[in-house]
Amino acid sequence: MRGIILSGGSATRLRPCTKVTSKQLLPIYNRPMIYYPLNTLIKAGIKEILIIVSPERAGDYLNLLGSGRQFGVKLTYEIQDKPRGLAEAFIIGENFIDEDSVTMILGDNIFEDDFTDDINNFKGGAKIFAKKVKDPERFGVVEVNNKMEALSIEEKPLQPKSNLAITGLYIYDHRVINVAKKLKPSVRGELEIVDLHNWYLARHELEVSLVRGAWIDAGTFDSLLDAQILARDRLQNKLII
Ligand code: DAU
Repeated sequence: MRGIILSGGSATRLRPCTKVTSKQLLPIYNRPMIYYPLNTLIKAGIKEILIIVSPERAGDYLNLLGSGRQFGVKLTYEIQDKPRGLAEAFIIGENFIDEDSVTMILGDNIFEDDFTDDINNFKGGAKIFAKKVKDPERFGVVEVNNKMEALSIEEKPLQPKSNLAITGLYIYDHRVINVAKKLKPSVRGELEIVDLHNWYLARHELEVSLVRGAWIDAGTFDSLLDAQILARDRLQNKLII
């Protein structure tokens, strides 16, 4: 299993704090934000991790995290020159993923859960993780039946069919590379991750699991504050880096 942390983008929602630095380098309590998703992957046993960053900030990530040897893992870096969508990560990461499966986590997603078993037991297809939220229209939304089988998936629907948000951690087999290469940009000009989920869903190869514990997408000022409090009160003794 290979790991990818997608940590590019321009984070205009967090201006002016992100004018001269990357959102994922802002502090969440006592660590830079990216430590939390990095911790999630390392804790789950992933040893080879690709960090995708924007060109302006690449040097900062290298200075902060280096080779990864101090964490017992190998870190490599790739540049995404424009934020063309989450699914582009699998095109940028093609050589890195090769014939392996891949777990991707978004650089601004903070999880309390441990994904070791999900990763060890992954046999193929795709697996996504959902969490009940009050504001599903802000996220990708999955509708499930009573056996937790996905019925539909939509990105930021105006009228969500469920209150289950799709969180920013995804496991795919290596076919994801070719699926991503065939995607067409959406109306907002991005290669959409929900189109990857829907490709696997159409083949009955998409598994949905519920996230245990807290989950925060720290992409707004309010969720950034929530993440700081969560990190201070509940995550400190769960962090290994
Ligand atoms: O956090 C979970 C949500 O993440 C999911 O529910 C959605 O389905 C998914 O589309 C995504 O929604 P966001 O609105 O949070 O996406 P955003 O454009 O903010 O990008 C998420 C992170 O990925 C952000 O930290 C910046 C980074 N990013 C984004 C894009 C579009 C990149 O590194 N490159 C990109 O091209």
